Amino acid sequence: MTDTSAIVDPMASPPFAVRLRPYVDADRWLTETIETSPVMMADLGGPLPEADIPGIHARRLEGMAADRLWYFTVELEPEGTAVGTICLWSDAVAGELRSEAGWAILHEYQGRGLATEALRLLIAKAREDGRWGDIHAFPGVSNGPSNAVCRKAGFENVGEETVLYAGRRLACNHWVLDADGYGAG
Ligand SMILES: CC(C)(COP(=O)(O)OP(=O)(O)OC[C@H]1O[C@@H](n2cnc3c(N)ncnc32)[C@H](O)[C@@H]1OP(=O)(O)O)[C@@H](O)C(=O)NCCC(=O)NCCS
Repeated sequence: MTDTSAIVDPMASPPFAVRLRPYVDADRWLTETIETSPVMMADLGGPLPEADIPGIHARRLEGMAADRLWYFTVELEPEGTAVGTICLWSDAVAGELRSEAGWAILHEYQGRGLATEALRLLIAKAREDGRWGDIHAFPGVSNGPSNAVCRKAGFENVGEETVLYAGRRLACNHWVLDADGYGAG
């Protein structure tokens, strides 16, 4: 019988390790690269105008400074190359606060498990922090990779919903990660 104990399964762990670091002023280029790209914004209603970038960037920095919003730059370990962003915030919906997460990985780094790993790290931080409760996500119905990321992170698809994003009405899947499931609170 063949001894398989020394065989390493390349799919058993992500080929790239990532870390999350707080978004800072110098990360403006990431917001610009992601939000003005027709490719990156294909499932989010198309690119945003360049003129919107300063305001978006400023709101991210302000939200971070006030600890209202978590906005992280996703970096490759150990070299620190910035490859995307991931965030968590709360909105009042029907009189109650609802926590929502969103993510983007630069096109050239996609398909390597980085968004899934970044979301795993974000959930671990949220668990440690304890304030976020259930976490919701709204990928467009046609956004195969983003729906896959939700599924792989243990979110449950609770149905379709029309979501208003940057003035666009988007047909989205509504995914929820139950607070009890990830240990928050
Ligand atoms: C969504 C996004 C962040 C995913 O990043 P990523 O690092 O490539 O994601 P991962 O590699 O961790 O996982 C992607 C998964 O989607 C799967 N996938 C890719 N294309 C797919 C498709 N068309 N249909 C279904 N699944 C698909 C991959 O196979 C992979 O799953 P697997 O690891 O089980 O094979 C990236 O595509 C992106 O930035 N898109 C633009 C911005 C965006 O739409 N953000 C989401 C807003 S809700």
